[in-house]
Amino acid sequence: MTVNPVEHIAICPGSFDPITAGHLDVIRRAAHMFGRVIVAVGADGGKQPLFSLEERTEMARLACADLPNVEVDSFSGLVVEYARRQGAVALVKGLRAISDFEREVQMALMNRKLADELHTVFFVTHPDYAFLSSSLVKEVYSMGGDVSDLVPPAVLEQLGRKIRVSSQKS
Ligand code: PNS
Repeated sequence: MTVNPVEHIAICPGSFDPITAGHLDVIRRAAHMFGRVIVAVGADGGKQPLFSLEERTEMARLACADLPNVEVDSFSGLVVEYARRQGAVALVKGLRAISDFEREVQMALMNRKLADELHTVFFVTHPDYAFLSSSLVKEVYSMGGDVSDLVPPAVLEQLGRKIRVSSQKS
C-alpha cells in the first residue's frame, strides 16, 4: 500500500530553551514538506534549562500559532517512543555547522538503532541563523545585547521576565 506523503507526520524535537528564529525556520520548512508537524519540547534533554517545560512549550506554541499544520506538545522519555505513539515517520532537526554534526549524527544513529522505521531528516540552517543558538541568545540578552530579531516576540517578553528575576536573585 502506498501512503500519501501529505499525511506523513514529522516530529521536531528539541529543548527549545527558548525557541529561536533558527528553530522556526526549520519548523516552517518541515511544515511545507510534511502533512503534520509536531514540535515536541523535551523534558529530558540532559541540560539544566532556564525555562520550565511549561514555559518552553507555551513560547513555542505562541511562536507557531500562524502555522496551521504545526502543533506543539511536550514529552518525557525517549523521543523514539514519543514518535511511535504519534505515528510519526520522521524526526526533523536543524544542522547549523560542523559543530552540530557529531552530536546530531550520534543521536540520529542511536535513534535509528532504537527505531529503525523512523527517519531522521536534517535541514541545513538558513545562513542568517547559522550562528544562532538558544544559549547565545540567553547570554547576549543577559548582557544587554539586542536579540529582538533572533527570537519571536513571546520569547523576548519571557526573557525580560526571567532574566530580570534571575539577576535580582544574585
Ligand atoms: O535542542 P536539543 O538539545 O538538540 O534537543 C535534544 C533532544 C530533546 C531532542 C534530545 O535530548 C532528546 O531526544 N531527548 C529525549 C530523550 C532521548 O530520546 N534520548 C536519546 C536521544 S539519542
